[in-house]
Amino acid sequence: MAEHQLTTRDTKLIQYLNEAYGKEKELETALAAHIKMANERKSYKKRLQDHLKETKAQAKGLERRIKQLGGKAEAVTVPGPNVASEVASKATAAASSAVAAAKGPMHALRGTGTAEKLLKNVKTELWNEYEEIGNYVAIESLAQAVGDKETEKLAREFRRQEERMAAFLSKLLPVLGKAVATEAIPVAERRPSTGRTTKRSRSKPARSKPARSTSRSKPASSRTRSKPAKSSRSRSKPAKSSSSRSRSKPAKRSRARSS
Ligand SMILES: [Fe+2]
Ligand SMILES: [Fe+2]
Repeated sequence: MAEHQLTTRDTKLIQYLNEAYGKEKELETALAAHIKMANERKSYKKRLQDHLKETKAQAKGLERRIKQLGGKAEAVTVPGPNVASEVASKATAAASSAVAAAKGPMHALRGTGTAEKLLKNVKTELWNEYEEIGNYVAIESLAQAVGDKETEKLAREFRRQEERMAAFLSKLLPVLGKAVATEAIPVAERRPSTGRTTKRSRSKPARSKPARSTSRSKPASSRTRSKPAKSSRSRSKPAKSSSSRSRSKPAKRSRARSS
């Protein structure tokens, strides 16, 4: 079918579907590489394998839909976004090289243990899942807006698959974060923050203790005592003339009230 027969609507749908298709083809390769590195965690490896199957099926589903609309599935990026990405990539390259230089010493400290390699892979996978979710949300809303129910249904189904994968990865990341701590940080250095907080928390109540002890020296009901304690501060003003006498008198009054 010749391209000039395509409507503007279908051309736009094909463009978006092709962008998603290109991403799926890219991730087929990436997932296959990560599966080879995931031998240490079988449940994670199994999830990657399952998602690779989903990814391949998504690519085929997109290809089928693109053909139905009269287009051709191409993993190459569309000219428009490509031009924009070239400009962006130059800026990103300059920025990332500076960041890489700054982070170099930090990376050396981190080490390159098994848990950390997996953690980095999972971070990358999560990034990609969210990009895919973005692709399918865009396609779903576009298709809905132009009344293409078939494409809308396809995009919704694929979006949900990506969301499930993203949720799995989000739960796995904290587990790997802890594994990195166990793997790379000496035991003695893992709990510095708790030691500091206990010292601070001890010092604060220690100041309030003497104030409590003075109120304890006077007997019986704490409720009646709290009120005189406040008034004793105001008594300190008249205390310029005779502080000791004014303090002793209210104490007698409070006893009288309590009895
Ligand atoms: Fe996908
Ligand atoms: Fe995915």
